Amino acid sequence: MFDEYTTSEEVIETFKSLIKGRTVVLIGAGYPTRASPAHILVASRTTSKVEPVSRTIAGIDDSITTTFVQVDTTDHEAVREAATPTIDVLIHSAGAMATKEYTLDSQGIEFQLSANHIRSFLLTNLLMPALLAADEARFVNFTSAGYRLTPFWFDGWNFSDGKEYAPWLAYGQAKTANILFTYGLGRRLQHRGITALIVHSGYNGDTKLGAHLTWEDYGLIDGVMKQNRGVDWVWEEPRFKTFSQIAATSLIAVLGPDPASKSPAFLQNSQVHEPEEHARGLESVEELWKLSEELVKQRFKSYVMSFGVNTLGAIHNVPAYRVSR
Ligand SMILES: NC(=O)c1ccc[n+]([C@@H]2O[C@H](COP(=O)([O-])OP(=O)(O)OC[C@H]3O[C@@H](n4cnc5c(N)ncnc54)[C@H](OP(=O)(O)O)[C@@H]3O)[C@@H](O)[C@H]2O)c1
Repeated sequence: MFDEYTTSEEVIETFKSLIKGRTVVLIGAGYPTRASPAHILVASRTTSKVEPVSRTIAGIDDSITTTFVQVDTTDHEAVREAATPTIDVLIHSAGAMATKEYTLDSQGIEFQLSANHIRSFLLTNLLMPALLAADEARFVNFTSAGYRLTPFWFDGWNFSDGKEYAPWLAYGQAKTANILFTYGLGRRLQHRGITALIVHSGYNGDTKLGAHLTWEDYGLIDGVMKQNRGVDWVWEEPRFKTFSQIAATSLIAVLGPDPASKSPAFLQNSQVHEPEEHARGLESVEELWKLSEELVKQRFKSYVMSFGVNTLGAIHNVPAYRVSR
């Protein structure tokens, strides 16, 4: 029914009754998501970039409440302060791509790993009581076909203090981390009624993601792929999607019954696919979970065993799950 040319309007038309009245948290104000939830919280760094998103949402349906939460998600203390109420859908779209200079966040973590994965790991786990309190909540994370560039470098994730840094490798590592984390979360929560889905949207060159890059920079991808994986880089078709098409797969992840039944699952071109082994293998999934806990200096395991939500799903009945700090 849906394919690589599916538009957001087609997805919304099919599933719009499923989103009415729900609360959606969107981390990163990149390409827009269209539907009619009760409340959309947009968490991002820059107010001026969120304003057009809020105006667009109001133009579509002025009954939707939009709240802007200003947060730099690579700052762990700011993330801790931003974590709040009952959430039906948590969408992690925020990301950074091929940052040219080796850059560290305020915790000393390579910036792309931090902006794409670590912030998602920390914020999602902090928001877990709110997700567990909702009825069948969904976690939707964003990766990219760039994950094919490399497995996660468990022995050198910080690129030897920059000595081994390559912008596209760091992007590939971060995007592999997005998938590993989503699989780790989905496995932990599949008996708790929470769906965990990871989306590759397809390409659109008009977002801010690659605004700092030239066509020569994109030309480097093939060499990185050959050197690191020993195969050619292949761009997908369609090479570029419209804004409407690029949001379609994430909308299917937010709304579609089929992907939810396969959680944890990877979606591309509107369909569920199996990602490459390096992005879903159990050993890597668990190793990344452990490393991520070390990097945020907090463990998030106990809800796996002991979490209980009462029949009303009341948030005050969800026991705290922070084991140590
Ligand atoms: N566009 C594509 O072709 C494409 C293809 C495949 C996958 N993706 C993935 O799709 C996702 C969205 O990409 P996009 O094209 O919409 O990118 P975008 O236009 O650059 O939007 C990214 C959003 O993330 C926010 N953000 C980045 N770092 C942040 C931080 N540290 N704290 C808080 N917010 C932060 C940005 O806010 P600021 O502007 O304030 O930094 C911006 O609102 C990314 O995960 C990307 O990897 C995109």
